[in-house]
Amino acid sequence: MIELRELTKRYGDKTAVHDLTLTVEPGKITGFLGPNGAGKSTTMRMILGLDRPTSGTALIDGRPYAAFPHPLREVGALLDAKALHPGRSARAHLVALARSNGIPTARVDEALETVGLAAVARRRAGTFSLGMGQRLGIAGALLGDPRVLLFDEPVNGLDPDGVLWVRRLMRTLAAEGRTVFVSSHLMSEMELTADRLVVIGKGRLIADAPVAEVIARSSRNAVRLRSPRADLLPPHLPDADIRRTGPDTLTISGVPIERLGMLCHELGVPVLELSPQAASLEEAYMELTGGSVEYGVRGKADAR
Ligand SMILES: Nc1ncnc2c1ncn2[C@@H]1O[C@H](COP(=O)(O)OP(=O)(O)O)[C@@H](O)[C@H]1O
Ligand SMILES: [Mg+2]
Repeated sequence: MIELRELTKRYGDKTAVHDLTLTVEPGKITGFLGPNGAGKSTTMRMILGLDRPTSGTALIDGRPYAAFPHPLREVGALLDAKALHPGRSARAHLVALARSNGIPTARVDEALETVGLAAVARRRAGTFSLGMGQRLGIAGALLGDPRVLLFDEPVNGLDPDGVLWVRRLMRTLAAEGRTVFVSSHLMSEMELTADRLVVIGKGRLIADAPVAEVIARSSRNAVRLRSPRADLLPPHLPDADIRRTGPDTLTISGVPIERLGMLCHELGVPVLELSPQAASLEEAYMELTGGSVEYGVRGKADAR
């Protein structure tokens, strides 16, 4: 379990992480989602004791990272896949990690096997592709068989096979009862991977809920109504967001489907179709973070 309490990090007058309080529970994948610059990596670095919080605390199973005598046996992390000695072989890199944490070297070969690098174990890590580097980083995270795992943007640079592999691996780790905290700026990836979502923007918590709930809360959820007399409805729905999406079709948000059904009945409007149109996580996310994108233009969800 990871517990953050009022965690804050300022760099000069810039607040990278602002007053973050949340719990990451074992046995599930918690997606840590936010646009670039939202503060995900900074938060992870603070959890791992690589950055000192300006205020607040980050605890792993009740203790700060620095309190673990053999941290790799408690917490595994992939933060930066390039953070390794390029001249060392993959195996030598892992052996060094294992030795420094009292982990038997037999685990090195198991970890290399798990991540599919056994065949290139003796190649210099500096010659690895980004994807292979990610796999080696994941091997390092798994080395100590830790209860808690952090992955910062683990699928960056992976091909579709690699993406699928990482997703399955995280599923397995969570099913084993481990705490899996994985960051991404891609909600399409998180929609497929995570059980629960923590969304941040500009360092602040925006949402902390199961994936389905984040979607359910979106105002982009709508109902499609098809009727030759659809035009009779809008005057009775002054607060709804109504779009004409076909010659006899309206897409209506902000009104429960039950109320629309009753209204059609009361008005004598023949209904050919009345169906819920769930927002995608992408839409829900754009809505949540639209105001908190630090750089670049607003998302395409605004141009609907
Ligand atoms: N060492 C640092 N010094 C100054 N600013 C930093 C430093 N690290 C991160 N930041 C700033 O903090 C904010 C959050 O960065 P980061 O945690 O890397 O975001 P994310 O991982 O969500 O993309 C950004 O505005 C970034 O520029
Ligand atoms: Mg980052």
